[in-house]
Amino acid sequence: MSKKRSNFLMIWVILAVICLFSFLKYVSPEVFQVLMAKDHPMPTPSTLMMWYIIMGVLAGLVYATTSDKKLVDFLSFLLPDRGPALKFVLQKLLLIAFPLVVGWFVYSWSIPGVASPVELRIQHPTLPQEYEKQNNPYREKDPETQRRCIEEGKILFQTYCRPCHGSKADGNGPFANSFRLRPINFQDPGTIGTVVENYAFWRIKEGAPGLPSESTPWDSAMPSWKDDLKDDEVWKIIMGEYDTAGVVPRQREKAE
Ligand code: HEC
Repeated sequence: MSKKRSNFLMIWVILAVICLFSFLKYVSPEVFQVLMAKDHPMPTPSTLMMWYIIMGVLAGLVYATTSDKKLVDFLSFLLPDRGPALKFVLQKLLLIAFPLVVGWFVYSWSIPGVASPVELRIQHPTLPQEYEKQNNPYREKDPETQRRCIEEGKILFQTYCRPCHGSKADGNGPFANSFRLRPINFQDPGTIGTVVENYAFWRIKEGAPGLPSESTPWDSAMPSWKDDLKDDEVWKIIMGEYDTAGVVPRQREKAE
């Protein structure tokens, strides 16, 4: 009797882990609802769940290795010998289920979530130091040259930025609706009108990959343009962008 049972040691360990999982998933939320007198179930946090399951598996393995005989019984379950029909069925089930469970875990780990993040996002994080000292060289030129740069910048803006930011820089480009974090309406004076030109210069050159962590929730789609556009093109785009949106960049405060 005892011999027959220990032949299935691996199954008992797996069953124990499944019981632990079911308890944490379905029973403990109800138990804690009663114990803590809440009006809703208290689900086990997923990280805690993971640690309990890992500890459950480890405990099972420790038990299976407490004696040589147990270890042999534990591993021999996988060997193809003539045993009861039940063993044959369970063995095949295990060999099919294991890759499926691992595949399911990897899949659910890696698919992008559709739920919106709960964290707040900082739209305008601090400008990095190396961009602090940059200046738009074309703003010091004569009005005629400035006019020409704005026109060139508008063409570049329509070529590269319109798909997301829209032909009127109002954030209504044909791609805009497909992003969880929509490009904002630059015509609104509360957007690019509140930042100095070198702030826009940084955002265009570095894009979403250059954002610090407090601005990464919601996954910005803004590309980094530093490999595709030259600095003078970026300055021109900025001039064209502000002109298209009908707002002016914030001016630096002058020291008294
Ligand atoms: C694939 C879509 C996409 C393209 C193409 C794109 N952008 Fe963006 N951009 C975004 C999104 C989405 C945001 C808002 C999230 C963020 O701030 O990163 C944004 C933000 C910005 C901001 C920051 C605004 C602010 O107030 O913080 C600037 C400036 C900007 N884009 C300029 C440009 C320029 C100039 C181009 C063309 C060279 C361009 N973008 C091309 C999607 C795009």
